Amino acid sequence: VKGGFATFMEKEIHDQPAAVRDTLLGRMSPTGSLQLDELRIDESILRRVDKIVVVACGTAAYAGHVAKYAIEHWCRIPVEVELAHEFRYRDPVVSEKTLVVAITQSGETMDTLMAVRHAREQGAKVLAIVNTHGSTIARESDAVLYTHAGPEVAVASTKAFVAQITATYLLGLYLAQLRGNKYSDEVVTYLDELMKMPDKIAEVIAREDDIKDLAHRMKDVTSVLFLGRHVGFPVALEGALKLKELAYIHAEGFAAGELKHGPIALVEEGQPVFFIVPTPRRPLLHAKVMSNVREVNARGARVLCIAEEGDTAVEEFAADVIRIPETPTLLHPLVSVIPLQIFACALAAEKGLDVDQPRNLAKSVTVE
Ligand code: BG6
Repeated sequence: VKGGFATFMEKEIHDQPAAVRDTLLGRMSPTGSLQLDELRIDESILRRVDKIVVVACGTAAYAGHVAKYAIEHWCRIPVEVELAHEFRYRDPVVSEKTLVVAITQSGETMDTLMAVRHAREQGAKVLAIVNTHGSTIARESDAVLYTHAGPEVAVASTKAFVAQITATYLLGLYLAQLRGNKYSDEVVTYLDELMKMPDKIAEVIAREDDIKDLAHRMKDVTSVLFLGRHVGFPVALEGALKLKELAYIHAEGFAAGELKHGPIALVEEGQPVFFIVPTPRRPLLHAKVMSNVREVNARGARVLCIAEEGDTAVEEFAADVIRIPETPTLLHPLVSVIPLQIFACALAAEKGLDVDQPRNLAKSVTVE
């Protein structure tokens, strides 16, 4: 069942190229029409949507944060991302023109289910991105786009996360095409780029020994920071969450630009700081993160960079560089999160912890 791996988590990390490939498979025609598994929303309603609210918990919520960057860019529809339990207990502004997107691996998370019910009571349409067929959230939503990650057994999410991100890209490209704005011509290019992602993910996984070696060298750390900008920000949050969940290490993710507004006070000699470095083909974005890299390095921190191949700028400042293939900015999370998953899993293994069943956690939380 573990496919020759010692743990489900390792197996599921290695399943990720397939999870993305299967989620893309047969989903969208070159003209951009998306095959939703269940669609009980009229296309005319989707054309009129004036706001999207993503509701989810944990790792699934970080997939929602990535979705915001992509969907707003392609569709010019404002996207809010909210933790399902927060959405439910305030007085959110939703109307018949709001599309609520619920993201959930299990389809049974009670917090997310309550948010779905609340949204529908307010007249919003709910589209669910779900991994588990026939689950409660899939049944109670107006439309379902299944992620095809296959069963995820390890409590901490890995392959469901990349499949969720992939599904939100498909949704964004579909809405862009449906609404025919000036970005809809990007649809074909991006579908093409998306098809290359499974191989790129496999390339990163093939370098796992270097990442395991890094985890071995860092097995005694007690605190790790993760910094990213743009789509690198949710990846930083996910990197920190993985380390907390699996290795019980204090870890924090921040938006890199926020560094000078507070977190830099935590930076001292030897403090490990991971940077998710954007592609140098986005020079402004890249330069901003590099200036944070320099500041942190100047304070004696141990800088660890996840950077594209050929990005030589990082070498002067980083104690270690983990390479990812060249990838369009919006799709970066699919490759940049992989080393962080491998790192957290390997560090937990170094500490002799149960990576599949971390203490105090449940795969699916069915109470509010
Ligand atoms: C948590 C799990 O309890 O629920 C996380 O430990 C998961 O891994 C989160 O991301 C949300 O779960 P789901 O099933 O709604 O995606």
